[in-house]
Amino acid sequence: MSKLFSPATLRGLTLRNRTVVAPMCQYSAQDGFANDWHLVHLGRFAIGGFGLVMQEATAIVPEGRISYGDLGLWKDEQIAPLKRIVDFLHSQGAAAGIQLAHAGRKASTPVPWRKGFDETDEEKLALHFERWTPVAPSALIHAENKEFTQPEALDEAGIRNVIVSFAAAARRADRAGFDIVEIHAAHGYLLNQFLSPLANKRTDRYGGSIENRMRLLLEVTEAVRAVWPAEKPLLARLSVSDWHPDGWQVEDSIVLTRELKARGVDAIDASSGGFEGAVIPAAADYQVPFASAVRNEGGLPCMAVGLLGDARRAEEIIANGEADFIALARGALDDPNWPVHIRHELGNHDYDLWPKPTNRVRERDRSLGQRGFATS
Ligand SMILES: Cc1cc2nc3c(=O)[nH]c(=O)nc-3n(C[C@H](O)[C@H](O)[C@H](O)COP(=O)(O)O)c2cc1C
Repeated sequence: MSKLFSPATLRGLTLRNRTVVAPMCQYSAQDGFANDWHLVHLGRFAIGGFGLVMQEATAIVPEGRISYGDLGLWKDEQIAPLKRIVDFLHSQGAAAGIQLAHAGRKASTPVPWRKGFDETDEEKLALHFERWTPVAPSALIHAENKEFTQPEALDEAGIRNVIVSFAAAARRADRAGFDIVEIHAAHGYLLNQFLSPLANKRTDRYGGSIENRMRLLLEVTEAVRAVWPAEKPLLARLSVSDWHPDGWQVEDSIVLTRELKARGVDAIDASSGGFEGAVIPAAADYQVPFASAVRNEGGLPCMAVGLLGDARRAEEIIANGEADFIALARGALDDPNWPVHIRHELGNHDYDLWPKPTNRVRERDRSLGQRGFATS
């Protein structure tokens, strides 16, 4: 029996299997509103058999967007198009997650496939173009190149607004029907900026010691948990290591995981990196040891992510207790049917995970003598 395809329960939610689509910004929203692109992009992963589909970094305030094209959940009007997506994911047997995010000093950057801010006036109108001054723990630019803007340091009122806005967005996510909220505290975005000594040079109670640098994330977690229904799981995505000698380290993430657990977080999505100067040895499975460290020493279930996709290795990671879930981003773009495909590879010869309108694939496989059918 495949462990990867065994159900997993977090609080009142049971996932049909342990395959996850990692959050992926699409830069395709206008004024934060989801549209047909998001429905089809996310919907195809539910059709493809994933257990959990996590929606991209969704901004809790407009100035928290990485670009003007990010999804948002800072106003009630943004709920309805998201509910349409959630309802579709549910209709296909997948759970629906949403990553709530604030980009901090990495906000207001160009849409990645454009050459900087090269929009014509006509495009600016059509795309709902916006550009603004980002906020950060300290007034330090992320990197000296034309993509980033000098940020303003948040004062206490600004910090309070971040906390309240995370909670308000979580309430809206519940109304949209999401099963899981993931707090984005990774990849050098706002909450990660507060955690990391590379970006946080504050001298007040939000900077300095690790307790102070963790304070904002822990206050956000408490505020979200207070409004997020008790039967629904809450996740946090961490950059378990900054991959930088002066940055946040694995041991810090273990301490943080214990604090998050005490505040009602149910699992960690274990990623890494996000700051300039990091040296990242990206290779197959390279972040799995981070998931294992946080899982086994921090005491929470963990999601492994990053250059995963080999079926047998994915199965082994779950079977060995290196992680509890396997998340794919680019691998899911490449093969939105990854779960239904690898389920055969792992020796399951039924077609139960294929949605009914698609399972005539079975007839083709029988004719071709593949996926468990003998050649006649
Ligand atoms: C197009 C794209 C958009 C991404 N957007 C997000 C995002 O919104 N939030 C996030 O935490 N990570 C984001 N990531 C990172 C992925 O979730 C994932 O951690 C990373 O790509 C490594 O997994 P992979 O090797 O399976 O792609 C994005 C990655 C890609 C390729």
